[in-house]
Amino acid sequence: MNVKFPLEDWMLKHQSQIEFVLEKRLQQGLKPGSARLFEAMRYATLGGGKRLRALLVYATGQAMGAKQPAMDVAAAAVEMIHAYSLVHDDMPMMDDDDLRRGRPTCHKAYDEATALLVGDALQTQAFETLCDETLTDKQQSRMIKTLSHASGAAGMAGGQAIDLESVGKKLDIDALQAMHKLKTGALIRASVLMGALSAEQYDETILEHLDRYADCIGLAFQVQDDVLDVITDTETLGKTQGADIALNKPTYPALLGLEKAQQKAVALIEKALTHLDACPFNSEVLAELAQFVVKRSH
Ligand code: IPE
Ligand code: IPE
Ligand code: MG
Ligand code: MG
Ligand code: MG
Repeated sequence: MNVKFPLEDWMLKHQSQIEFVLEKRLQQGLKPGSARLFEAMRYATLGGGKRLRALLVYATGQAMGAKQPAMDVAAAAVEMIHAYSLVHDDMPMMDDDDLRRGRPTCHKAYDEATALLVGDALQTQAFETLCDETLTDKQQSRMIKTLSHASGAAGMAGGQAIDLESVGKKLDIDALQAMHKLKTGALIRASVLMGALSAEQYDETILEHLDRYADCIGLAFQVQDDVLDVITDTETLGKTQGADIALNKPTYPALLGLEKAQQKAVALIEKALTHLDACPFNSEVLAELAQFVVKRSH
């Protein structure tokens, strides 16, 4: 009999691990600077979120024999960039949202200028985190290159810009896919790659297979995010249901209809799994995480 991998337990364990690592890194301690800014950074980063990007770092790193400290810094850096992207995404000049992770958004709990600075400071702290001496020079430079590329104009920030430029326009499917791959897919790809780079030994062809897997789940993740905006209530989501519709955002359900959008996400996950078949290690957790992307309720 095949015993199914207990993903829920594995997720809980690694969610507490990343919480612990982030908590330590965001302690104000005796550092100079504004206590209010540190508090707002902690508010935006700690105590919420599924931590999918950190989980992908851990799952990939573990499959490839990486050491815990290397995975911890990679996972913390990615989650800091992600938390920053959410703080800015919610601000009035972007999506103008009041609710995030079941709580008031950062600019509502603090103020807009503080939220802007929270994003700036989390972004730079992500790269400071990667300068940790637990990583070799080679790991540091490759991770910094990977994460900066995925976060910048050719990655998340670029996708966010296209998202804002596209409000009210009807993008065709290729343009919508390209936007989603940048605004969300890029950081998910970086998470998998940084998990692999946490291992000191890897084969470049394995990185390519993993990247194809990550490319599929990254797009599927945003397709599912679009779907959940339509079908899931605000309380379950922890963010306002119907926010995309209210802003007339280009989304998969808006372009294809709900059912076709859901089918697209499932098809992408099936494709992601085929890329794992080519990996010469136990990829069970990565396969389960891929399924989680489309099975999740928030
Ligand atoms: C939300 O990401 C923003 C997108 C890129 C779709 P998540 O759904 O991963 O947010 P948290 O971290 O779990 O709150
Ligand atoms: C956000 O996409 C992508 C980011 C880079 C933060 P959305 O605007 O759809 O994310 P939510 O729905 O607000 O979490
Ligand atoms: Mg947005
Ligand atoms: Mg948004
Ligand atoms: Mg959304």
